[in-house]
Amino acid sequence: MTMSRPESGPVPPPGCPAHTGHAGGAAAPQTGSPALERLYGPEFAADPMGTFTRLRAHGSVVPVEIAPGVDAWAVIGYETALEVLRSPDRFSKDPRRWKALADGRVPADSPVVPMMMYRPNALWTDGEEHDRLRAVIADSLGRVDPAALRDHVERGADTLIDRIGPEGRADLLGEYSAVLPLLVFQQLFGCPEDIGRKLVQGTAGIFDADADSERANAVLAEGLAELVALKRRQPGPDVTSWMMAHPHKLTDEEMIHQLVLLLGAGVEAEQNLICNGLRLLLSDDRFAGDLAGGSMPVEDALDEVLWNDPPMANYAIHYAIRDEELDGTLVRAGEPMLMSFIALNNDPALAGDRRTGNRAHLAWGVGPHTCPAKSPARLIATVAVEKLLDRIPDIELAVGEEELRWRQGPFNRSLVSLPVRFPPIAPAQPAAAQPTAEGRGRGTEPAPAPSPSPSPASSAPAPGSGAAGAAHGAPGRWRGSLARWWHGR
Ligand code: HEM
Repeated sequence: MTMSRPESGPVPPPGCPAHTGHAGGAAAPQTGSPALERLYGPEFAADPMGTFTRLRAHGSVVPVEIAPGVDAWAVIGYETALEVLRSPDRFSKDPRRWKALADGRVPADSPVVPMMMYRPNALWTDGEEHDRLRAVIADSLGRVDPAALRDHVERGADTLIDRIGPEGRADLLGEYSAVLPLLVFQQLFGCPEDIGRKLVQGTAGIFDADADSERANAVLAEGLAELVALKRRQPGPDVTSWMMAHPHKLTDEEMIHQLVLLLGAGVEAEQNLICNGLRLLLSDDRFAGDLAGGSMPVEDALDEVLWNDPPMANYAIHYAIRDEELDGTLVRAGEPMLMSFIALNNDPALAGDRRTGNRAHLAWGVGPHTCPAKSPARLIATVAVEKLLDRIPDIELAVGEEELRWRQGPFNRSLVSLPVRFPPIAPAQPAAAQPTAEGRGRGTEPAPAPSPSPSPASSAPAPGSGAAGAAHGAPGRWRGSLARWWHGR
């Protein structure tokens, strides 16, 4: 396919210093064609669909820039994405095939590298190795009892709502959506208080991405290693122990890599599903009447988010194993391809009214790497949203919808914050009854869980890592909120 650059395309011409990550070097495109658009930055964050509308004129596989000096293909057609995702014999997940990275043509400090680089976990492996790791994860997640999960979410939600309720205002991203998945995962993975504290410290430090991030990373790695060691000695009814007991027998190192993947993949995406769902419910008149009336169409709102603002907006990165012609475009072996779920879910070739009850979107992926946590992830988000709106029915946005800002990275569809106000409410449970770090029993009470770190095992969508994380606006509040929760304040 011949690519032509749109006259007013926002990507600088090849050779422009802004286009290359290498000092003074001319930018040879890292894909077969020069990038047509940027999938990052303020313009893209404010209006991703505008970018994709322009790109559609060039086919369903289009060259884009995903960070300064980093080119990739974006798959923006629904059928084309299905072809890639369902053809593991032609398209690999293994980032060691990424030629531009191996050749040193990608800036080593590029913010997208941590979220694209190889780690020995289920996300970045193919074939038998993937089957083995995925079976451990999927089988263990499959043992989670939905009723117990619902209870964990409700208790975590109540704790957070009790904290923000008396204030009459909150940031529902930093003080609710980002924290609740951490509480839930902490419970699911059987993380006791002392280890949980390390995971919180480590995760918060990584969020801050400052000079201490190396140390934070070490603390997180130490916490995970301790969790694995503890569960080897004292297994319990938790996902960590079930993974260890799996007949595929993961080593300690393999366990740590999979745990980081699970926590990272889960926490970031879950946060965005909850928060984007709340945004829609609070800002769209179609839902407004129902909130106060008690019949909250939460499921409809979540479906709509999964179609239009999917938490993983552009991800599921694949590499052609050999040169491939894909819908008329030549994709060379080793060039990264992002599945643009936000674009392909809105492919004009898809007919019909998708809004209500239709779940044919690809927000969970499809094929061998489809999300193994669809059911629990959906349950967590549903309960999280319902609980908040049930306890604070008169909640409203504290700013105009047009003032809400989105993070600027290419991968996640994530708000910077979601400020709301409401008539203050009293805590549902007396302060003494609220779970606190000091008051919890052995390994069964909630405590925040980590997101993936750049090392030793980061590989998944990471709060605060990569381009998206760099643009995250609320790490301080997030950490403050976690610390308050942790100390029972
Ligand atoms: C809440 C919204 C969520 C969404 C929208 C979502 C979406 C996705 C997508 C699109 C993929 C495919 C990624 C790829 O191929 O690169 C994926 C994979 C994965 N997700 Fe989720 N996810 C969510 C929640 C979770 C949760 C809660 C967990 C863990 C408890 C989880 C664990 C995983 C894992 C382990 C993989 C890798 C599977 C593999 O490669 O075989 N996800 N998810």
